[in-house]
Amino acid sequence: MEKKTMKKIINGLSVFLEGQESAQPILFVHGFPYDHSMWEAQTEEFGKEYLCVSYDIRGLGESPAGDGQLTMESFVDDLETIIDGLKLKKPVLCGLSMGGYISLRALERMPAKFSAAILCDTRAEADNNEGKLKRAAAIKRINTEGLAAYARDFMVTCFSDHFKTKGHDKLRKIIDHSSRFDPLGVKGSLVAMLSRTDTTAALEKIDIPILLIFGEEDALTPPAGMRAVFQKIKHAEFVEIKRAGHMSPIENSEEVNRTIHDFLNSLKGSRAKET
Ligand code: MLT
Repeated sequence: MEKKTMKKIINGLSVFLEGQESAQPILFVHGFPYDHSMWEAQTEEFGKEYLCVSYDIRGLGESPAGDGQLTMESFVDDLETIIDGLKLKKPVLCGLSMGGYISLRALERMPAKFSAAILCDTRAEADNNEGKLKRAAAIKRINTEGLAAYARDFMVTCFSDHFKTKGHDKLRKIIDHSSRFDPLGVKGSLVAMLSRTDTTAALEKIDIPILLIFGEEDALTPPAGMRAVFQKIKHAEFVEIKRAGHMSPIENSEEVNRTIHDFLNSLKGSRAKET
């Protein structure tokens, strides 16, 4: 079937829409250093019934870096601009890793904007000293050896051994794609992550349904540790995805889509009870 994606530019950001404008919106926020295309398997599937909105975070993909001075707060400002620009009514927010950091801060800053959220392979704590030094080393490496060398070494750590073998060609294409991003934007994202606030205290205040998705082999945000932190959320369901690392929506899209389907259907059930 032919894919119908509409592209809009909102406040300089490339935004992609799939599905009926009148349908319940789902707003997808990608991880680092990826772009909107990491959600392809989800927007294609859920665009049949929902309005799927994905976008390139400022500095990544097609969205220009500007002066490269990026913060988590400016990423949340951009998210708000998209919601307001498209007049999205109570979207379901779906963020992976850095997209999860943006989502968690957005849920803390403007909780009334969302009806539910899906948080994939992410964390609520800010970077500790070791994490901050790793970001600094990453920026230095991009400056000295270039983005391609950094992207190659970092991005393979995001995937499970299963995907590295079976999805080898796809993985190479994904890494090549990100290697062509503007290094200024990639470094700006690293600084935004390094300087982000800790959203752990906000978790117990979240009062909407939350689905947590983690790849069972996620080495960057291991599910065991994350399960304990996210237990603080009142209405949360935690699902581990088999044969997947940190990029579960790409690595095992079938199981991720099934999990999201069940969650979205349960929301329809609770909406029907409310009316
Ligand atoms: C991501 O997938 O967005 C990044 O790995 C997040 C991070 O480096 O903290």
